[in-house]
Amino acid sequence: MSQVEQTFVMIKPEAVQRGLIGEILSRFERKGLKITRLAMKQIEPSVAEVHYRHHRDKPFFPGLIEAITAGPVVLAVIEGPQAIAHVRNLIGATNPLQAVPGSIRGDFANELPYNMVHASDGPETAREEIARFFGEE
Ligand code: CMP
Repeated sequence: MSQVEQTFVMIKPEAVQRGLIGEILSRFERKGLKITRLAMKQIEPSVAEVHYRHHRDKPFFPGLIEAITAGPVVLAVIEGPQAIAHVRNLIGATNPLQAVPGSIRGDFANELPYNMVHASDGPETAREEIARFFGEE
């Protein structure tokens, strides 16, 4: 048995706007993963800037902050064996053009930065992002 992991997922404003919350969450559940925490929230620009700080020198940074703060997002903690890798597989490649059909981004996203979902890329990031958006508990 693999180790049970927790990962962080954010359903971005463009997906909330299009009514895709249930569709996206159901894909994680269908895979046998559990949704252990769930919240809907408007992200403050200051929090978005910390969350995406590793991209702050990129030309797309201002557009990314604008996109992620354009409306409410859904925040989730997803749990299960190898949850981090499974969730990354289910959401697909960052660029919707490279995301394979069948993945969330491959099925619903058209162009960057509007790729519908964000998910943690490793155990350390998952811990950090869960703490940032849900607190240490
Ligand atoms: P995400 O997985 O949330 O992590 C960083 C985000 O930056 C990414 O999804 C996209 O929304 C956005 N992004 C990454 N690369 C580009 C790019 N080349 N142009 C515009 N937005 C980008």
